[in-house]
Amino acid sequence: MDKKFYITTPIYYANGLAHVGHFLTTTAADVLARYQRLLLGDENVFFTTGLDEHGTTVEQAAVKDGFTSNTIKDYTDKRAEQWKQDFDLTNISYDYFVRTTNPKHEKIAQDFIREMVKNGDVYKAKYKGKYCNGCEKFLTLSDLNKEGYCPLHRPDQVIEIEEENYFFKLSKYAGQVKKLIEDNTIKIIPENKKAEIISRLSGKVEDFSISRPKEKVSWGVEFPDDPRQVIYVWIEALINYRSSLEITKKPEDFWSNSWHLLGKDINWFHNTIWPAMLLAAGYSVFSGSFVHGFLMIGGEKISKSKGNIITPKQLVEKFGVDGARYLILANFPYDNDSDVTWEQLIIKYNADLANGLGNLVSRVAKLAENSGFEFPKIQPSGSHPEGEVKKHLEEFRFDKALEYIWGKISEADKYLDDKKPWNLQGVTLQEVLQELVGRIRQIANNLRPFLPETAEKVEKQFAGGKIASSSPLFPRLQ
Ligand code: MSP
Repeated sequence: MDKKFYITTPIYYANGLAHVGHFLTTTAADVLARYQRLLLGDENVFFTTGLDEHGTTVEQAAVKDGFTSNTIKDYTDKRAEQWKQDFDLTNISYDYFVRTTNPKHEKIAQDFIREMVKNGDVYKAKYKGKYCNGCEKFLTLSDLNKEGYCPLHRPDQVIEIEEENYFFKLSKYAGQVKKLIEDNTIKIIPENKKAEIISRLSGKVEDFSISRPKEKVSWGVEFPDDPRQVIYVWIEALINYRSSLEITKKPEDFWSNSWHLLGKDINWFHNTIWPAMLLAAGYSVFSGSFVHGFLMIGGEKISKSKGNIITPKQLVEKFGVDGARYLILANFPYDNDSDVTWEQLIIKYNADLANGLGNLVSRVAKLAENSGFEFPKIQPSGSHPEGEVKKHLEEFRFDKALEYIWGKISEADKYLDDKKPWNLQGVTLQEVLQELVGRIRQIANNLRPFLPETAEKVEKQFAGGKIASSSPLFPRLQ
């Protein structure tokens, strides 16, 4: 049996457009999908990303944009096109674009909840407390700042609610989920994000509200067998990871090697609530999740209102598609947050791409062209990234994998400078150029999951026969 690989990103709220933070998670997932396709073949990899389209935030944004409560779907249709354009622009090779307004997803979500109800894990009770519309979240005391507000959103986004909801017996599953995480049935990477969940699961875990009254939240999926309630948007959204497989009729073995990629803000939802829901509905749990830190801009949180936002489109306009992908992956916030500014990005682009990779490729191509030699042909797209790159990718170390590849670029530069092929002739020159061409081919192979267009260009240019020089891969920026 072929091994399968299923990789997901969070589904992003449809109330806004993609920024560099969303681009970061999605590019990381894309790298893993591309890498696994090289190992397992296209048909054995399933990569999903998409939009979370229900809930108050989306409804409010639609109304603000001039849509009415009857045309919210038109608003999310428009948003879905915009997000897809951004993902296409940045070469994100998703296999399926999730939209939670897809009626098939809505039905699967209802059936999922029905299973939880059948299992005796859902009951009706009063919820009294704070809710943040911005987070779409019931706030616990630990979520609040000193002033009693949500630290992430404007004070008016936090409302007091007292309502009758359906509750899920999360407390019943806390011990079981903790054990599954401890014994690595669910692998949480990196270690500090695992520790965070284990510590919270070691304390008191409360049951969790999974519905909202329809008169308060109308833009949602109706709770099964109760038209007065809608499914709480987070609960419905998490089910996308199952509904995507069911809608596309993927065999169950994708689920047995399924990985969620996400930011640290939604660790608890993915690594406690979601596995508990799966257990309650009678499913096996997913294989694991990779929880990364946040990308900051100039030391600040990305925030539209503060004006420190970078969009994928802006990055591509400045650095090209692969330049954008490289800069974000090289600054990857593995276990801590990372920070970028336009100035630093330009410096890194010039150092690593215009000078490092770009310069090496153009110097060697020029020397090969001038030599007039014929080089042995290789099968383009024939081989895989090296063992060291594999190791880093399997540990979600995008930054380290790139550091390794850039180490190889420096070594090739050094070899070139030491051997000084411009002073050589005949067989010695041929040997040195042959060695350099071989090294560049290996570098291109290693780059395939990360910088797919560049890797392909370089592979073609160095495929063998006569080698010609070409325009710079990454023009220098001022
Ligand atoms: N709709 C929910 C997720 C439901 S998944 C079943 C949601 N959406 S979101 O639009 O707010 O996206 C959150 C995700 O975007 C984060 O978990 C992270 O993957 C990514 N990021 C948003 N800002 C980010 C940074 N500044 N840095 C890195 N990633 C960031 O939550």
